[in-house]
Amino acid sequence: MTALSLTINGTPFGPIEVRDDLSMNDFLREVLGMTGTKFGCGAAQCLSCVVIVDDPAGSSATRPTCVMPAVSFNGAHIRTVEGHARAGQLTALQKAFVAHYAFQCGYCTAGFLNEAQVLLERLEAAPIPRAGLEQAILDALDGHLCRCSGYVRYHEAVRDVVLAEPARYLL
Ligand code: FES
Ligand code: FES
Repeated sequence: MTALSLTINGTPFGPIEVRDDLSMNDFLREVLGMTGTKFGCGAAQCLSCVVIVDDPAGSSATRPTCVMPAVSFNGAHIRTVEGHARAGQLTALQKAFVAHYAFQCGYCTAGFLNEAQVLLERLEAAPIPRAGLEQAILDALDGHLCRCSGYVRYHEAVRDVVLAEPARYLL
């Protein structure tokens, strides 16, 4: 057992005693009841389970939760799908996912949302030429599996968000 402390969507949790073999996915879903993070393949292959990990230096990246022990997130600052909307207001990215009917069952959506959010923040920090945008979206969403085949719609939704504010994301 290990005493786990971490910050989720800006709220500190812990210390909570957890088994060392408890996955981060089970910690979020079963211990904290945060079921927005999904469990798909359980083998780090579909990326439906990723959360955003914010590093103190300012960069962020997604990380699967299905194969990672919860204790490996000790001290981390993470964001989950529950942390995107503010005061009941969806973000521009969430609205674009809805407007594009990007998801059907929604099982992959939290993973795509977190990945696309990281991309938006990266573009905001380091804008790119318009000519590189399609590849940047492809690269960012690569590896996320959607059994309902929403790939093109997710891509178009992310593109719309960027093009709605070109001065923010593009050179
Ligand atoms: S459930 Fe974690 S990568 Fe598929
Ligand atoms: S919307 Fe069903 S898996 Fe993507």
